[in-house]
Amino acid sequence: MRIGLLTSGGDAPGMNATIRAVVRAAIHNGDTVFGIYDGYRGLVEGKIVEFTRKNVSEILNKGGTILGTARLPEFTYEAVRRLAVEQLKKHDIESLICLGGDGTYSGAIRLHEMGIKTIGVPCTIDNDIASTDFTIGFSTALSTACDAIDKLRDTSSSHQRCSIIEVMGRHCGDLALYSGICCGAEYIITNETGLDKNKLLNDLKQTRLAGRRHAIVVISENMTDVHQLAKEVEAFTGYECRATILGYVQRGGTPTPEDRLLAARLGKYAVDLLKEGVTGVAVGVKDNKLVSTPIEQALAMQNEPNVELFDVVNKIS
Ligand code: F6P
Repeated sequence: MRIGLLTSGGDAPGMNATIRAVVRAAIHNGDTVFGIYDGYRGLVEGKIVEFTRKNVSEILNKGGTILGTARLPEFTYEAVRRLAVEQLKKHDIESLICLGGDGTYSGAIRLHEMGIKTIGVPCTIDNDIASTDFTIGFSTALSTACDAIDKLRDTSSSHQRCSIIEVMGRHCGDLALYSGICCGAEYIITNETGLDKNKLLNDLKQTRLAGRRHAIVVISENMTDVHQLAKEVEAFTGYECRATILGYVQRGGTPTPEDRLLAARLGKYAVDLLKEGVTGVAVGVKDNKLVSTPIEQALAMQNEPNVELFDVVNKIS
C-alpha cells in the first residue's frame, strides 16, 4: 500500500507519537508512507514527502506535530477536494490516515466518498469525539491544566481570593470536569451543567461567609466572559476574584504515557485496518478495547454527559 498521512485542525500532544506509530507499523508491513505537510492545505498544495523510519526518530516525546497542521474551511468545496485527490493520484497514494478532530473527520469522509480509502485517528485535546472514550492529547492537556490549577490554588489561598479558571474543550466539558475533580475545584461549570450565575454568586457568598479562604471555579471555554464574571463575583460575594484563561498552553508539551500508549495502539490499528481493507472509519477505544466506527456515524454521535463523574462532583466538591 501507499499510505498518505496528515495532521489537521488544532494540534494535540501525542500527534507525533501517532505519526511514528503509523510510519513504523506500515514500514513493518512493507508499505510506503507519505508525510503530507500542513494538513489538507498542504495536501491540496502537494506538500507530500516519502517517510522512512528516520523521519520519525526522536519524535515520540515531542509535543505539536512535525507534519504541521492547518485549518482549511475551503475544503468543504468539491473543487478544492478534487485538487487534493489529484495530488494523491499523482503520487499513486490510494489511502489516507487523517489525525485530528471532527473537522478533520469531515474532510476524511468527503475524500472517502471520492474514492480515497481513509481512516480517522482521534487527536484533539478536547475529548469531544464520541466514538472513542479518549482522544489522543486529552490526557496531556488534563495534566497541564491540573498543574496550572494547583498553582493558582496556592496563590488564591494565600490572598483569600476566588479564582476562575477557563480551560479549553470547545463545546465539550471534559477538560473542565476532569481537571476540576482532580484539583478539588469548588465549582465546575461546563456545557452540560450550564451557568446559573445567580446560584454561583449566592453559593460563593455563602462559602465566603463560612470562612473559606479561597474558592476555585473551573469553567469550560465558550461559556461566558470570565473577566466580566470575576468582576461580578467581586461585587457580590466579598471575595477578591481573578480570572485566568489557560489558553493555548494546554495544547503543548510532551505527551503523557497515556497519550503515547493510545497513540501507539491507534496508529498501528489504523494501519492494520487499511491492510484488512476496512476504510471510511474512525478508530478509537471503548472500555479499553480497540474499536472502529464509520466516520459518518462517529460525526453524528453525541457526547453523553458523564453521569458518574457529575455525581462525584455533586457529592465531594
Ligand atoms: O480543538 C482544539 C482547540 O484547542 C479548542 O479547544 C479551541 O477552542 C480551538 O482548538 C482553538 O482553535 P484555534 O487554534 O483555531 O484558535
